[in-house]
Amino acid sequence: MKVGDRYFRSLWADVPAGRLHIIDQTRLPHAFEVRALTTVEQVAEAIRAMRVRGAPLIGVAAAFGLALAVRREPSDASISKASKELRATRPTAVNLAWAIARMRERLKGLKPAERSEAAWAEAQAIADEDVALNQAIGRHGLELLQREHDHLKRPVNILTHCNAGWVATVDWGTVTAPIFMAHEMGIPIHVWVDETRPRNQGLLTAWELASHGVPHTLVVDNAGGHLMQHKQVDLVMVGADRVTRRGDVCNKIGTYLKALAARDNGIPFYACVPSPTIDWTIEDGVEEIPIEERDPDEVRTVRGLDAKGAYATVNIVTPGTQIANPAFDVTPHDLVTGIITEKGIARASERELLAFWPRDQRSKAYLT
Ligand code: MRU
Repeated sequence: MKVGDRYFRSLWADVPAGRLHIIDQTRLPHAFEVRALTTVEQVAEAIRAMRVRGAPLIGVAAAFGLALAVRREPSDASISKASKELRATRPTAVNLAWAIARMRERLKGLKPAERSEAAWAEAQAIADEDVALNQAIGRHGLELLQREHDHLKRPVNILTHCNAGWVATVDWGTVTAPIFMAHEMGIPIHVWVDETRPRNQGLLTAWELASHGVPHTLVVDNAGGHLMQHKQVDLVMVGADRVTRRGDVCNKIGTYLKALAARDNGIPFYACVPSPTIDWTIEDGVEEIPIEERDPDEVRTVRGLDAKGAYATVNIVTPGTQIANPAFDVTPHDLVTGIITEKGIARASERELLAFWPRDQRSKAYLT
């Protein structure tokens, strides 16, 4: 999507040079910096440090990380070691394990000499498919927004949490795909953007929306309930890091509270979910999804620009204060109005998800 007047994907490969280019998201929204990664270790670091982040994007980055490992050393041992290192970076988003397993499946029958070319091609296919999935989600979400606008006959107010925008994917985003499409078609929309402490991913969403001229307002995470009570939100749209087969939605910490407030106020709550985010092996998200616990420093500090416009980090917590930093939570399926997928909008139930993905069409690759 657009950064100033130029169009970018959030990562791209230079295959002859053996480089993966990423937009360093730890520098956004105030600085736009591209990094070139040449080793699997650098890719693992970029995922761990959230230079690349968002469930779909970390899956794609991991696929290219494996391609870099195979380019250096195409043996089975090298592939196993790289897979292990990449999988250990972040535990919650299932896209990561899914992409690694898909890469391994593609490489396993090949001779070592054939593997490098195949690995780059497969990683690129995963990246290109991600764009197509998001565009399809966009088309289904667009119909929903069009209907909502036809019904309301005024701008549609959407509340979103975290960043499920184009930088969280290869392009378009999941939540932002329908928003960008609606905006392009002239459907009036306005987005309430949750700041999303502690990593402030909402600032990325605000930056993306601003770059495309979509009206939006940044709010603190606790404002959503109040806005809903005062009829300033028509629907909630969030992304997901892992969705269970019955439609429990695991997403950025604080999503569950938005779903509770939406239910109390009769406001529809949608999750935008490409199929690689669905974990068919589990049913109960609260019990079965591993929730990443991140560095307490993320809570202890706030990062922004100082008076000279340079990035600075300040401590906001008194020394010795105990800190917990769970990065995700689970919204049970009965609080979810619908799951917007590349195949259409499903109710959050096993029966409806099964109707879109019969058993033989589901990817079980991540089980291997
Ligand atoms: O910790 P993050 O920033 O990687 O978490 C990302 C989210 O929770 C997103 O909402 C989710 O991955 C969907 S991205 C299309």
